[in-house]
Amino acid sequence: MRLLVTGGAGFIGSNFVRAVVSLHPDYHICVLDKLTYAGNLENLAGLETSPRFRFIQGDICDPETVGEILKRGVDAVVNFAAESHVDRSILDASEFARTNITGTLNLLQGSRRAGVGRFLQISTDEVYGSLGPTGAFTEATPLAPNSPYAASKAAADLLVRSYHQTYGFPCLITRCSNNYGPYQFPEKLLPLLITNATAGVALPIYGDGLYTRDWIHVADHCAALDRALHLGRPGEIYNIGARQEKTNLEIARLVLRILGKDENLITFVADRPGHDRRYAIDPAKMETKLDWKPQIPFETGLRGTVEWYLRNPAWVENVRSGAYQTYYERMYQNRSRTLAEL
Ligand code: NAD
Ligand code: TYD
Repeated sequence: MRLLVTGGAGFIGSNFVRAVVSLHPDYHICVLDKLTYAGNLENLAGLETSPRFRFIQGDICDPETVGEILKRGVDAVVNFAAESHVDRSILDASEFARTNITGTLNLLQGSRRAGVGRFLQISTDEVYGSLGPTGAFTEATPLAPNSPYAASKAAADLLVRSYHQTYGFPCLITRCSNNYGPYQFPEKLLPLLITNATAGVALPIYGDGLYTRDWIHVADHCAALDRALHLGRPGEIYNIGARQEKTNLEIARLVLRILGKDENLITFVADRPGHDRRYAIDPAKMETKLDWKPQIPFETGLRGTVEWYLRNPAWVENVRSGAYQTYYERMYQNRSRTLAEL
């Protein structure tokens, strides 16, 4: 199978590429990634020499780049490319609208024209909005996005849906809960807590810290995506989650305990505007229809993740300083001109 993975240099995309390489050693993978601040080729280190792997630096909003890649033959597109941080979308949503909405539409248009056989849109539970103290999101829960990020992802989901309804285009959507694991950019809660605690710097907790998220290890998410890609039914939505709800305060305390640091590092700061109180996913459809189950208990996954960040201080330093652009130049200089030779 020839896969186009967009946003494959980001956190989940790079974990997915590695999972595919080990699960399907005969697959050909082309990663298209703009390498924004969140895209990092160090996440894909080691793959650059594989004849089955290509990296193209480019924008999913650019019809020419997308068309050129698809023209060379792609069986399936997996779209991870997105602006993904709620706080940034509150400061300025324009890139979120551009990449998440226009970019997805551009990929759909190009993929349909090229006769791509499967299009997997990676979405989020945030499109459902916020929950009260009980219950969980099912695939039938109405969309009620509250942040500009969530609104842009919901808009993309609706475009994907319309492509199935209007053209019978074989696309499907997965909506996952909060991921954690290796290679996550340290602006998101867990890597921020881990790197701050390691450095002995205050852990900023928004509001009262009792906001709840439903955590899943990125490896479990990627295993679910592999099932959805191969076995999911076009036109369907699949919720992915591991039934592991935690408050942000619980998470901060756990991280501090694992690192042997003092709870005094927890610092309550001003709340995020429009902050969703609670997310929880009901993954029953994934479990029953696609025979998938999460494997990694939260505490085990969290310990492994903390260890990964402790073992990789240079990665943290590089992504924070933007030094991975140098890595890109070093490892991919000759390959950045390869669009024509795909
Ligand atoms: P990320 O921010 O780590 O990675 C996004 C990647 O997309 C980066 O490599 C970036 O360079 C690339 N990109 C951004 N704009 C682009 C453009 N215009 N053209 C090409 N590439 C572009 O994000 P992530 O956490 O890995 O999330 C990946 C996807 O999964 C997103 O669509 C997100 O909405 C979704 N998701 C994330 C989570 C989570 O907890 N992180 C949960 C559910 C769903
Ligand atoms: P985040 O990792 O930004 O993911 P999302 O908002 O997409 O769920 O945030 C997870 C939770 O952690 C959310 O309730 C906001 C909270 N949070 C903090 O309390 N402090 C922080 O510094 C950050 C980044 C998030």
